[in-house]
Amino acid sequence: MKIEEITLEKLEPGRFIEEQCEEIARQVGDGLAINALSGGVDSSVVTMLGHKAIGNKLKTYFIDNGIMRRNEPGQVVNVFKGLGVHVEILDAREQFFSALKGLTDPEEKREAITQTFYRDVFGDLVKKSGAKFLLQGTIYTDVEETVAGIKRQHNILTQLGIDTKAQFGYTLIEPLIQLRKTGVRKVGEALGLPKEIFARPPFPGPALAARVIGEASPERIAIVREATAIVEEELTGTKAFQYLAILHEDKVTGIRNNKRDYGYQIEIRCWDSTDARTAKPTRLDFGILEKLASRMTTEVKGVVSVTYNIASKPTSTIEAV
Ligand code: XMP
Repeated sequence: MKIEEITLEKLEPGRFIEEQCEEIARQVGDGLAINALSGGVDSSVVTMLGHKAIGNKLKTYFIDNGIMRRNEPGQVVNVFKGLGVHVEILDAREQFFSALKGLTDPEEKREAITQTFYRDVFGDLVKKSGAKFLLQGTIYTDVEETVAGIKRQHNILTQLGIDTKAQFGYTLIEPLIQLRKTGVRKVGEALGLPKEIFARPPFPGPALAARVIGEASPERIAIVREATAIVEEELTGTKAFQYLAILHEDKVTGIRNNKRDYGYQIEIRCWDSTDARTAKPTRLDFGILEKLASRMTTEVKGVVSVTYNIASKPTSTIEAV
C-alpha cells in the first residue's frame, strides 16, 4: 500500500490530532493497546496521542534495553509523570545484550534488536496484558529509507511484508506514518509536550548500538554512553540538527604519561539538516572541537584519539552503523 506523505504545507496539527485520535479509538475499540516510549520525539508524540485517544486503555512502557543514554529511563518517566501519563519501566537489559553478543554486522545488529523488541519483549507483554494492538511512532522517512534499501530502520515491519498479527500476536497502529520529523514536532507542540521533548534531536531506535562499530557489548556501550553525554553537553547550544559520538572498532596507538597507550578512537559527528535526507557537517568552532577532544581523552576511559567527520550525507549517512 502506498503511503501518502502529509507535507508541512498540508499539515494542520489540530485537525491531524483529532483525526488520528478518532482512528486510534476506532481501531482499538473495547480492546487494549500497549506502546513503548523511548523519550524520543516520535514515541513521545505517539504516547500523547494514544493517551488522548483511549486513556487508560493504553499502557505505556519504557523498555530499558541497556543501550539508552545516561539516566534516560528515569528522566523520561519523570517528564511524562508531569504530563499525567504513567510509564512503567521494564528491565530487558539482559535480553538485549545476549541477543547482541558476538554480532558485528550492522544489519545483523539491527535485526537482533528488532527481534528482541517485537518478538520477545512485546510478544511477552501482549501475552501478559491481553493487548491486541501496539502503537508505534514510525515516520515517513523511516519507511522511505528502508524501502529504498539504504538502511533498515528497526521499526519497519509491515512495509517489509511482515505480518505482526500472525508472527507476534498483535496489530500495529502507526499514526505518524505520513509525517516527517518537522511535522511530528509541530504535532508534539500542539499536543502540549514540553519543548525539551518536541525539539529534541533525533535518536535512533537501535540507540547506542547504532553508535558502536562492531560488537555492542555492555563495556563498549558504556564507553559510547560517556562520550555521548559529553557531546550532548557541549553541543546542546548549537543549532545543529543532530550530534553524536561513535566508538570505532579499531584501536590506535596513543601516548599517555610518556607511555604507549593502545586505545579507543571516538568519532564526533554534528549535522546541519532539515529532514535527515541530506546533511552537511556543521562548521563547528575549532575551540569547541578542542574542548570535546580534551574531555573525551580525559573523561572517557581508554580513549586516545578523537576525529570529526567532515563528509556530507550522501555519501555518509547520519549514523555510522
Ligand atoms: P541515517 O543514518 O540513515 O539516519 O542517515 C537518518 C535519521 O534516522 C535516524 N536513524 C534511525 N532511527 N532507527 C531509527 O529509529 C534506526 O535504525 C535509525 N538509523 C538512523 C538517525 O538518527 C537520523 O536522524
